Amino acid sequence: MSFSKIIATGSYLPSSILTNQDLEKRLDTSDDWITSRTGIKQRHIIGDEEKTSDMAYEAAIKAIKAAKIDANSIDLIIVATTTPDKVFPSTACTLQSKLGIEECPAFDIQAVCSGFIYALSVADKYIKTNSARTVLVVGADAMSTITDYSDRGNAILWGDGAGAVILKASQEPGILSTHIHAQGKYEDLLHVPRKSDEKKDTIDMVGNQVFKIAVNTLDRIVDETLDANNLKKTDIDWLVPHQANIRILEATAKKLSMGMDKVIVTIDRHGNTSAASIPLALDEGIKTNKILPNQLILMEAFGGGFTWGSALIKL
Ligand code: COA
Repeated sequence: MSFSKIIATGSYLPSSILTNQDLEKRLDTSDDWITSRTGIKQRHIIGDEEKTSDMAYEAAIKAIKAAKIDANSIDLIIVATTTPDKVFPSTACTLQSKLGIEECPAFDIQAVCSGFIYALSVADKYIKTNSARTVLVVGADAMSTITDYSDRGNAILWGDGAGAVILKASQEPGILSTHIHAQGKYEDLLHVPRKSDEKKDTIDMVGNQVFKIAVNTLDRIVDETLDANNLKKTDIDWLVPHQANIRILEATAKKLSMGMDKVIVTIDRHGNTSAASIPLALDEGIKTNKILPNQLILMEAFGGGFTWGSALIKL
């Protein structure tokens, strides 16, 4: 049986930046409050003419170049997004066309902030069952397009961006395990209503309740992942978490008895970019030579649904 191995990464952030100082001018909030409660100082915001597929394309093309492969050798494209360009076609199909790939299966996955982990999990299964050999997985989100900038309870959190990885069939690990979960009963704590139902179609969140459930759930997913691989906390070299709130990242690092110097942190500069946050952080960790070949990396995420999941990988 083959393993799937991440052979290259790429990422993209829009050029426009929204700082806490900018938000202070629009909302009853302060840089101090946002920094101390979330760890966020700024986020990137998609341009007026830009779409999720454009960000996905920029990240994907960098990953394809870094992998030194012909785009047409990609035999599966999965895009994790909550903010597709259109209801249909999928953003994955639009991306395929932009990349000039003649034909291959392409589809989106909707698991909000856990989307990248879900997508990685599906890609891994395709490779392990010999149904694909080279897979492009992208996490791309334009959360600013579904944010109500008069709601200080969550407008401060979100940012836009995209991250991509190329997975290839390999005799060496690779992705060691993935774990995905969902519980739909929590819908009311974090969702985007339909305008026809609630007169709004922007993110609605009960932040403090989401926070508590996220911390407890991520604790459990850490145990599940370590147990499934017969590993100890100290075996993990890097935590590459979904970037929702620095306090959630710190709680997971504490659970792993890990110093924050072993956690890839981008939330201060990116905010919460939903499905894009893990591949953005992974790319940064690799490009800054923090994450090195053969190291063990734990990725985890929690998001709307509720969905949550983890992936243990060796680079
Ligand atoms: N600026 C200033 N004050 C704010 C504020 C803001 N942007 N947002 C909320 N407040 C106020 C509240 O009105 C409340 O005031 P009160 O005590 O007078 O009623 C007080 O701050 C505390 O609010 P609370 O919501 O309990 O704050 P919190 O510490 O839980 O922080 C979040 C709010 C949203 C930052 C935090 O709950 C969070 O990050 N939640 C999880 C988010 C998440 O992970 N979401 C998606 C999953 S990917």
